[in-house]
Order: sequence, then structure tokens, then C-alpha cells
Amino acid sequence: MRLQRLARRRQPGRTKRSGRTTTGRRTRRESATADHLFRRSPASDYPVIDRARGSYVYDTEGHRYLDGCSGAVVSNIGHSVREVVEALTRQARRATFAHSSQFISEASLDLSRRIAELCPPPLAKDARVYLVSGGSEAVETAIKLARQYQIERGQPQRTRIISRWQSYHGSSLGALSVTGHRARRRPFEPLLVDFPHMAPVYCYRCPFDLEFPDCKLACADDLERTLESVGPDKVAAFIGEPISGAALGAVTPPDGYWQRIREICDRYEVLLIADEVMTGVGRTGRAFALDHWSVIPDIIVMGKGLGAGYTPLGAVIARGFIHEVIREGSGTFEHGFTYSANPLSAATGAAVLKVVRQKRLISRARQLGPDLERLLRRAAAHHTMVGDVRGQGLLWGLELVRDRSTREPFDPALRVAQRLGLEARRRGLMLYPGSGSVDGTRGDHVIVAPPLTISRKDLELLGQLLDEALGALAASLKLA
Ligand SMILES: Cc1ncc(COP(=O)(O)O)c(C=O)c1O
Repeated sequence: MRLQRLARRRQPGRTKRSGRTTTGRRTRRESATADHLFRRSPASDYPVIDRARGSYVYDTEGHRYLDGCSGAVVSNIGHSVREVVEALTRQARRATFAHSSQFISEASLDLSRRIAELCPPPLAKDARVYLVSGGSEAVETAIKLARQYQIERGQPQRTRIISRWQSYHGSSLGALSVTGHRARRRPFEPLLVDFPHMAPVYCYRCPFDLEFPDCKLACADDLERTLESVGPDKVAAFIGEPISGAALGAVTPPDGYWQRIREICDRYEVLLIADEVMTGVGRTGRAFALDHWSVIPDIIVMGKGLGAGYTPLGAVIARGFIHEVIREGSGTFEHGFTYSANPLSAATGAAVLKVVRQKRLISRARQLGPDLERLLRRAAAHHTMVGDVRGQGLLWGLELVRDRSTREPFDPALRVAQRLGLEARRRGLMLYPGSGSVDGTRGDHVIVAPPLTISRKDLELLGQLLDEALGALAASLKLA
């Protein structure tokens, strides 16, 4: 009860787009003389962040928000950790920038060693880490690396990258080309590379209308079907999120799925790229989500939790044999961004990984996972609109449905996931809503993914606020 009172007292009051709060006070935005900021959604109104500490974010009007989704599953170690801010400042005093065509840095050597240490045994030994500034850049890098590797090993006809429908791999055009989220692709479709997409792994809405284990992993075998239809010697790589993120909301594949994908990739000499941008650095209770199934990919893509919100950072981990083919071949990876491996981001990322190790955050995510699951299942028991609860460690998704027994989704015009996000925000809880999970247009989910440092008390508060937000949404939708 005390937690509930505390949360209510701090309810953000803003509901209108006019820039006024419900109490009529002027916001910072309105009082500014000129506003040139192109917002993510220009038609939406956003609170102005003031500061962030631990699991909380505060706006300039004094409202407090429990960060139930780590921003966009980024702030794994919590906000404003002193050691990371100090490391960042130390490096800034020493050297902020060096171009990767001219220098390497102690910081980038340190970070790449720490990343390699996170990898499972054979990879830990021979991993080569290419540093970039975020997830999309990392996906672009992985695609180009796979392509160049195939050229340099004498397979230049391998130009295709296979990915899955209902996936998300980033916003830049190459990353969007492998992304399978139809709504995000639609406006840009004429600009995208025509890569083949296969069935998603999505047991709640099986694309083959089957049930595990009777399905015999038909969705994994769809990789073989796709390879055969494209022409097996035309494919450079397969890319997939080990546990799905923004497009499907934490769908966890059944046991055997990733082992089967690995077998098929091996059989057809196709590289396996694991997009661990959302799942990497312990989010699901293992260093990488593929570790749950002991599957070793050829390339791992990282972002989000690596910089953990302290710096824009991404990385691509390549198996030694890929690096070797290029080193012994042309000697140059024909790729690079101005800010690749910049010392400031590298030092910051290294400090983040140090905190992850010192605070044992990977095992903490594993330990807290069942507690979060229990809270989410309790909320689901109270609200029939929660059709499915899924996830691992501290990455969870709730799928919202009009009818739980038929799994019928809501009308997309109702924007149910977005509304749940707003109801939660009004109560001082941040969630990460997404839509299009059913077919790119229909389907609503929210991701719940607090910092791995969240206290048990705050986890309990998260459950209560979510429960209240679901209740308010159900009332506004006039659901029983
Ligand atoms: C699995 C996955 N890959 C790639 C990206 C793109 O990362 P970024 O937004 O840092 O470019 C995301 C972002 O949500 C992601 O979840």
C-alpha cells in the first residue's frame, strides 16, 4: 500500500498535447522561445528528462518514472553509475578521438578483450571484435563482413542474407532490409535490398498452425526450405534474434530450434549471425541468449546494453576463421565509420562491462527472472487482455489480445500497446510498447525489461503499477 501511495503522489499529470499539464502549468517546452527539435514522433508530446539515478528517471517537472524497460532495453546497469561516469571523464581528459584508420587505443583493446571474455569457450579464444556506435551499425557491419568473407573464400556468388518475418534488426537501410517487421519496412520497401525472409519462431501464433513438439520444429526447417528456393550456393548468411525483441516482444524459441538452425547453416556453409543487440550482456540471464542452448554462432552483433546508455556503442564479434580469411586475403575489411572504435566510447563500454562483472549482473538477471515472471503472471491473471506472457531473465513480453480464448488481436486503430504505455507513464512507470506482432499491422505487446540492478522492492512496485495501468486500459476499452 505504501508503495502504491508513493507512486500515486508522483503521478505525472500531463495528458494533453498542448504542452500544458492537467493542472494548467506551463511546461518547459512551451516557455522556450524557439523549438527546432525534430521529435521521434512530431505529433507526440514528451516529458523533458532532467536526471536519472539507478532504476529511476526524473523529468524537469519533478515527476519520477520507474524505468521498467531500461529505456529501450539499454540501461542494463541502471542510470548514472559513478564508476562509469568517472571512466568516461578520465578517457575524455586523455583523448576523445582517434580515427580507426590511424590509431588503435588501449581502451578499444581493453573493451574487445572484455567482450571476448563474455563469449562461450571456443569463441572466447579466437573472437575478433569490431567496434561501432550502435545496433544498426553493427548489423550493417555483420552483413558486409559476411559478404566479404564469402568473396575472399572464393564464393562471390553468395550475396543473399536470410532473415525472418516479424524480426527487428535496425533502422538503416541494410538493417531494415533484413528486418521482417512489415509496418516498419512498408514506406521504404522500394529502397530495400530484396533479401529472402522465412517464417518466424512464434509458438503463440505458429505460422504453420502446429504445436510444439509435434511440429518437429517446422519453423527451423523453414530455413532449409528458403535456402533451397533461393539456391543454397547464393546465400552468405542467416541472421536472427536468439530471443526476439522489438517486433515480437521477447518470444523465446523452444529447445532444439537454435541447434537445428546451426545444423542447417553448417550443412549449407552459411554463416550464422546472432543479433544479440537486445539480448546480449546478460539481459536474459546468460552473457548471450544463444548460451541458453549452447549454440555458437559465427558472428555476434551487440549494441544496447554494451554502452548501457552511457555512450553510443555497438560491436560485432567474428569467429577467428572469418578474421583470418580477410587478414590472409585482401588484408582489409572494406568498411568503417568515422566513430568506429573511438576511445571515448570504448573506455565507457569497458567500464560498463567491469560493472556487469563486479556486480554479477548476469546471474542477478537469472535470479530475478522468476520473480518478474511471477509478477507478470499475477497481472495476467487479473486482466484477460493479457494473452501471453513470455521471456527469459529480465527480458519479458506481454501480448495483449481482445479475446484470450481465440487470441484475436485488437483493432490496430485502438493503438492498445501505445495506450498501455501511456497509462503506465501516467502512473510513473515506463514500458516499451510495440505493435504488428501478428502480421506486421495487427498485434500489440509491451516489453518489460528493468535494469538488471533493480531492487526487489522496485520490482514489486513495477508489478503494482503495471497492474493498475492494465486496469485503467481495460476500463477505457470497456472490457469486462
Ligand atoms: C535485435 C536488434 N537489432 C538491432 C537493433 C538496432 O539497434 P540501434 O537502434 O542501436 O541501431 C535493435 C534495436 O532495437 C534490436 O533490438
